[in-house]
Formats: sequence, C-alpha cells, structure tokens
Amino acid sequence: MEYITAGESHGPELTAIVTGVPAGLVISEEQMNSDLARRQGGYGRGGRQTIERDTVRVTGGLRFGRTLGGPIGLSVRNRDWVNWSDRMAPFGQPPADLKREVTPRPGHADLVGALRTNTDDCRNILERASARETAARVAATGIARELLAELGVEVFSYVVSVGDASMDEDDFLAKAPTYTPLDIELSEMRCPSARATESMKAAIDRARAAGESLGGTFRVVARGLVPGIGSYASAGERLTARIGAALFGIPAIKGVEFGLGFEAARRPGSEVHDPIVLEGAEGFQRSSNNAGGLEGGMTNGMPLVVTVAMKPIPTLMRPLDTVNLDTLEVEQASKERSDVCAVPAAAVVAEGEVAFALANAYLEAFGCTNMTDLKASVKSYKQRLRTMSR
Ligand SMILES: Cc1cc2nc3c(=O)[nH]c(=O)nc-3n(C[C@H](O)[C@H](O)[C@H](O)COP(=O)(O)O)c2cc1C
Repeated sequence: MEYITAGESHGPELTAIVTGVPAGLVISEEQMNSDLARRQGGYGRGGRQTIERDTVRVTGGLRFGRTLGGPIGLSVRNRDWVNWSDRMAPFGQPPADLKREVTPRPGHADLVGALRTNTDDCRNILERASARETAARVAATGIARELLAELGVEVFSYVVSVGDASMDEDDFLAKAPTYTPLDIELSEMRCPSARATESMKAAIDRARAAGESLGGTFRVVARGLVPGIGSYASAGERLTARIGAALFGIPAIKGVEFGLGFEAARRPGSEVHDPIVLEGAEGFQRSSNNAGGLEGGMTNGMPLVVTVAMKPIPTLMRPLDTVNLDTLEVEQASKERSDVCAVPAAAVVAEGEVAFALANAYLEAFGCTNMTDLKASVKSYKQRLRTMSR
C-alpha cells in the first residue's frame, strides 16, 4: 500500500489517495471520523481545533462499506478556508492588502523552505509544512488499522510525558501495556494515569502562561502480530527501518526507541536479550520483551513497543529572534495561531503510521489482492508455526 496527501493548512481541503489496498476490506466511516476527532483532541491545542470538525468524505474506492481494490480517495474539508479564500486562492491575483510572512519561525520549515524554493513569502512553505496535513494521514492510515484488526492485530498509543511531567511506568516492557481505549481516551492527555494527566495539564498551563511550548514522549504498541513479518535480508525490508522512517516522517518527531531503546546500550547483553521459551499452545515465546517485539528486522511475536519523542512546538507566543527577509534586520519571529502542546495528537498520527507500515509488511509477506485470501494465508501460516513448536 502507498498513500499520498495534497492540500494546505488553509486551503479548501486535504486530500489523500491510498493505493494497494486489498478488495473486500470493511471500512467504517465512524471509525475514520473517530480517529480524526482523536487527532484534534488533547489538552494544549490551539484555536484552530475549535474551528475544525474533521470528518472524512470518501471520493473513490469504496462500495457499501467495502474496498473495491482500486485507489481510495479521501478528503477532509478545512472549515477555516472561508476565512482564507482570498489569501489562499488557487487562481487569480493576490489581494492588494496581502501581508507576506517575512519573519521565519526558528524550528519550523519557514526559512529553509523559502531559501530552497526561492520565495519571499514563508506562507508558501508553512501552509504545507503545517501539521494540519496529518489529518489526511490519519484518514489514510486508518485503513491499515482496519486491515490489521481483521488479522487480529490491535495498534494503540498513549502519552508518557509532557515536558518534565511524566507517567510512572517502570515495567512497560515486562508486561506490555494492556490499557483499554477508555483508559487512554478518557484522559485529556491520552495518558492512562490520572495523576500524570493532571501534572501534564499543569505543565501545559505553566507553559502557556509563559508564552512557551512543550514536547513530550508517547508510546505506540501493537499486539497480536505474527512472528516473521518484515525481513532480515535487505536494509529496506527491515521492519525496524520502515517503522522508524514512518515515525520520523511525522513533523516534530526527534527520537524513536524500540523496546529498551537507548537503555540497551548501557546494559550487558545478558540483561538485554530476551530468553526463548516454549509455552504449550503458545509455541515459541520470550520471557521478557526488551527488544520491543522486533528482532533481525522482523516481528518476533511479542508486542511491538515503540517510544517516540516529540520536540516542543516551534511557534512561540514569546517568539525567538529571527531575521526579517525584507529588511535583513533582527526581529521577533511570526506568531501564528498555534498549539502549546500536541503530543496526544502526534501519538494518534503515529498509531496510523505504524499501522500502515505493519499492514504493508503483512501484505508483502502474504501478497494477496483480497481480504478472504489474506486471512486464509495468515491462518495457514499460524498453523504451520504451531507445527514447528510441537
Ligand atoms: C499533531 C501535530 C500538531 C502540531 N501543531 C503545531 C502547531 O500548532 N504549531 C507549530 O508551530 N507546530 C506544530 N507542530 C510541529 C510542526 O509541524 C513541526 O515542528 C514543523 O513542521 C517542523 O518540522 P520538524 O520539527 O520535523 O523539523 C505540530 C506537529 C504535530 C505532529
């Protein structure tokens, strides 16, 4: 499967086209819209989220709630477009009073994008670099999550820390997280600890009052994976590389750790690698999950556990210094309506990206054009694995 998106933050709409999806996959409109709503939520979001009420419009590839096997077209309308239709018009002349963006924000694509594309208006960059685009991604990658669900794979995410406010969760690898959607989604921070939720919200309040912004960390977990998805054979086939690339494709993501992550580099081998055990009907298992579910570029049958770091939001209400592109004088960077913290939303985007990488790896392993064949192939693979551990 592949997907591509088009659209600007304040343009008419965001569009996604998803190709390579097997025929016969049941897609729920409610599920897609609920994912879009989850991406819009979280304490610390900016005023934009009160304007938008994201819902998906399907423009191709589905009939009676099932995929047809052709490209799937998805569109998410920008309600804010009505306020920008003159400044973001696809055709015609700029309005006479157009204010160009000439004070690029440090930490954003503004300056380097303007240099690269030879424009004197950073809006030409920031409209596309804006994470508003991730609404289209969530719609597109939600298809992968539905596919995985039919194969018994569940993908979820939760927030672990915001700034220095953090959830206490020492044994997250020993007992891979089993939080329910309610544990996570009832928290305004998408964090299953009520205490940590309150301390994260307080940290965001302090940051907002100081004109600051915050980043944080979150985890993405996938349960129910069969072992052997991905490959050890070539660099580009390693699932570790694919999931890493998918996560680093999300704006503001600066770190990805699989399982123990950087902590593994501090420990001796015997305290890192996961002993192999045979457990009755379960077959080959691991007595720990420090690898976070991946070995040799493949799933090993244990839950996938990935921890992701997001940097603080670059738009600051107390802006940093920048250089005015017209006057070449030092000035304060632009202030655009902005989130103070978007870690809960980034985690929702990451869930989708991880699901997309995993679903692709399943399709490569089982290579099917329709869901019936795919499910049958996965079933027979599981049966063969059982015979190998008896
Ligand atoms: C869900 C989400 C929401 C975001 N919201 C904002 C925002 O409101 N304001 C902002 O300046 N950056 C926001 N960002 C971060 C920027 O998009 C990102 O830092 C910027 O594109 C620069 O990319 P880089 O950090 O990967 O270098 C958001 C990122 C994500 C994932």
